[in-house]
Amino acid sequence: MEIEVSAPGKLMLFGEHAVVYNRPCIVSAVSSRMKVKLEKIPTGLEIDAPQTKDFRFVEEAVRIFKEKYKTNGGLKIKTQSDFSSQYGFGSSSAVTVATIFGLSQLYQIPLTKKEIFDLGYQVTLNIQGVGSGFDIAAAVFGGVLYFLTGGKTIKPLSVKNLPIVVGYSGIKADTPKIVKSLKLKIRNNKEKFNQIFDKIAQIVEVAKIELEKENWKKLGKLMNENHHLLQQLGVSTKKLDSLCQAAVSAGAYGAKLSGAGGGDCMIALVSENKRQAVESAINKTGGKVIKVNPNAEGVFNYLIN
Ligand code: MEV
Repeated sequence: MEIEVSAPGKLMLFGEHAVVYNRPCIVSAVSSRMKVKLEKIPTGLEIDAPQTKDFRFVEEAVRIFKEKYKTNGGLKIKTQSDFSSQYGFGSSSAVTVATIFGLSQLYQIPLTKKEIFDLGYQVTLNIQGVGSGFDIAAAVFGGVLYFLTGGKTIKPLSVKNLPIVVGYSGIKADTPKIVKSLKLKIRNNKEKFNQIFDKIAQIVEVAKIELEKENWKKLGKLMNENHHLLQQLGVSTKKLDSLCQAAVSAGAYGAKLSGAGGGDCMIALVSENKRQAVESAINKTGGKVIKVNPNAEGVFNYLIN
């Protein structure tokens, strides 16, 4: 028997970094997906993963799954990604979730979404040592989620439209490294950073309401404010700042970096009549517009042979 499953990547909309410190965030699953094909073989573990980073996540997901559910025999697993791991769309979390879901299908062990989340989050922590788990939640549940650290709250938001433009800064960010170095900075100035995290949390709470109301003007303003606070955390870069600035000058409602900072992507909220102008401003400023749709479906099974 062969199983094929796919899980989506993610984009952080509001609340990055603060979510590592017990504050909420809002994340959207995106249309770029990671596909995983799984097959039982007599013995061993054969992993064919074109993106080398994925290899460790698949291996750890298999190890944890086999240990918990006491499954026997060998496995052949092949991964295929719709997107480059460069962009920070969460290829590791998508491959982890797809592997766990695929294993549950292959061994016919039904798991709830929360159980898949818990196993996936354990894989993240075992490999990276840090992380809130928001990316694992996006890959499992899909859609747009209000998420609290470690999955204490995972609440789907009813968002129909989300008119965003995504711009890649051209630099690959090392998320665990950025999260760990911020942790060191916080140690020396807890009060300052807690104040920033509280302000970010307030933005997330307002954004949660305004997203469901499609109040783009207000949401754009919240994005700008969130970006400003991320600058205060010291995680933005000149390139990300200039891409956000260019998007806003070209008529976006607002813009912010998305993810850990230090590179990867920025997002801008746009009206459809400004989309083209914003995209060309991002390209002219040295960014690369990436075509993805937000609000994508969570992990699913699309082939059983
Ligand atoms: C990285 O994309 C988002 C962070 O908040 C880390 C995390 O939540 O795991 C910086």
